[in-house]
Amino acid sequence: MRLIRVRDYDALCETVVAKILDRVQSGSRVNLGLATGSTPRGIYSRLVEDARVNGTSYRRVHTFNLDEYVGLSPKAPESYHHYMEEALFRHVDFPRGGTHLPDGTTANLEEECRKYEAAIQAAGGIDLQLLGIGVNGHIGFNEPGTSFSSRTHVVTLAESTRRANRRFFDHPHNVPKRAITMGVATIMDSREIFLMASGSDKAEIVARLLNEEVSESLPASVLKRHPQATMIAEETALAGL
Ligand code: GLP
Repeated sequence: MRLIRVRDYDALCETVVAKILDRVQSGSRVNLGLATGSTPRGIYSRLVEDARVNGTSYRRVHTFNLDEYVGLSPKAPESYHHYMEEALFRHVDFPRGGTHLPDGTTANLEEECRKYEAAIQAAGGIDLQLLGIGVNGHIGFNEPGTSFSSRTHVVTLAESTRRANRRFFDHPHNVPKRAITMGVATIMDSREIFLMASGSDKAEIVARLLNEEVSESLPASVLKRHPQATMIAEETALAGL
């Protein structure tokens, strides 16, 4: 895993946006793997601004998000469907049916996981995957202990994850207990991966990630085995080294 150190959040966003625009503006079909949470917000707002100012088209871009909560309707403001719609999808010209997130409201969640995994394969796999990192080292919602051979599956969220995501919900009780997430092996199939680390609350886990051996107890460590994975980290997130 390559490491790119950047000064601050602006520099992190600019670095990642340049990589994404390289692909999007190539005119070739591209499958982007997208993440939610606070870290990618500035990336999406810059992509929207670029499309407005420079007219960048997303007609040949298909997207697959990492995860979605179980039980939240796509219209619920805390859902990742809603987040993506507001942050990116409604602002640029993705092809009809080109944006995908798992459906956490379906009666048969296992079937939904199989369908989501199959849709990624049928699309030809992910060219460029964006990832944030959880305070416990999760990627997507693959919590510590998740098998590296996992495919899209239903997870029970760790208490530390529910606490970290509490800020997006009105009340702690409303933070869902489960989610659907791409598996670790699904993520590792991506041809290129960018792991973004922003802010001092990630300093401890980033230090562990860089210092410790690859292990299922620290899901992001698997990225050290990927031939085209890059971590882009701000100074504040590297302060624990
Ligand atoms: C969430 C998401 C992850 C995200 C992580 C970090 O739980 N499921 O995909 O990367 O938390 O989020 P943030 O960027 O808000 O720190």
